[in-house]
Amino acid sequence: MKILTPNQLTAYERDGFLVLENFVSPAACDQLKAHVATMIADFDPTEVKAIFSTRNPGKTHNDYFLTSGDQVRFFFEEDAFNSDGELRQSKELSINKIGHAMHDLDPVFNQFSRTPELAALADDLGYKHPLLLQSMYIFKQPHIGGEVVFHQDGTFLYTEPQSVTGFWIAIEDATLKNGCLWALPGGHKSGLKSKLFRTPEGTTRFETYDETPWSDERAVPLEVKQGTLIVLHGLLPHRSHANLSSQSRHAYTLHLIEGKSHYPAENWLQRSPEFPARGFS
Ligand code: FE2
Repeated sequence: MKILTPNQLTAYERDGFLVLENFVSPAACDQLKAHVATMIADFDPTEVKAIFSTRNPGKTHNDYFLTSGDQVRFFFEEDAFNSDGELRQSKELSINKIGHAMHDLDPVFNQFSRTPELAALADDLGYKHPLLLQSMYIFKQPHIGGEVVFHQDGTFLYTEPQSVTGFWIAIEDATLKNGCLWALPGGHKSGLKSKLFRTPEGTTRFETYDETPWSDERAVPLEVKQGTLIVLHGLLPHRSHANLSSQSRHAYTLHLIEGKSHYPAENWLQRSPEFPARGFS
């Protein structure tokens, strides 16, 4: 099965992103959204509250994140908890995202993530041994969904050579009002600006190669309908503004790497050796 036309591949190589409308059916998007609602209903934030309300939030926060590569974890919006460690509003409206291995641990996410169409898309993009490294369900909550500043996914999922690609799927319509993605066309050609790595002390640090800021004026908004898939090159600068509207902007992202590339032990995302990342089958 071929997904991309030669023209689409040319545009992707030129721009570093590609918008594929109607890639996933509205029914499949709604089904995933409903499933996530049940996951949240079943989720007891007590244990996480404890993590976020200890005297050493920086460290415990960081550990919660650094050990989530092969787990299903709930991450909260900044300021979701007050100084007593209590949620300021309902848990449904406080969650920023779920990550990072639902595609392997949750049957509904597994089915959504391992379709013949996604496998064929990875094939069209040149993957020989694609590995589904990371999944995130992003809520971009009404009114409080925070800004995500310009970044390259290769900063966080570093391989040698660079091989990460993001599949960003709109589970709900993404508009200028609710914080759609913005991209810098062609920005993937100027190389990786920084890399995040684990320190021996169990923290993370950025190694910066290029301090030049991204040029804001050249950014283009990607307003898309539910079911649209946006392919994001691992070096493409992208961002999203805060959601100041009353509409949420749910999205599901999958990050692929090439299995033959080198994956450093210093990357933040590590999986248990007994539970390695898998491909589409
Ligand atoms: Fe990203």
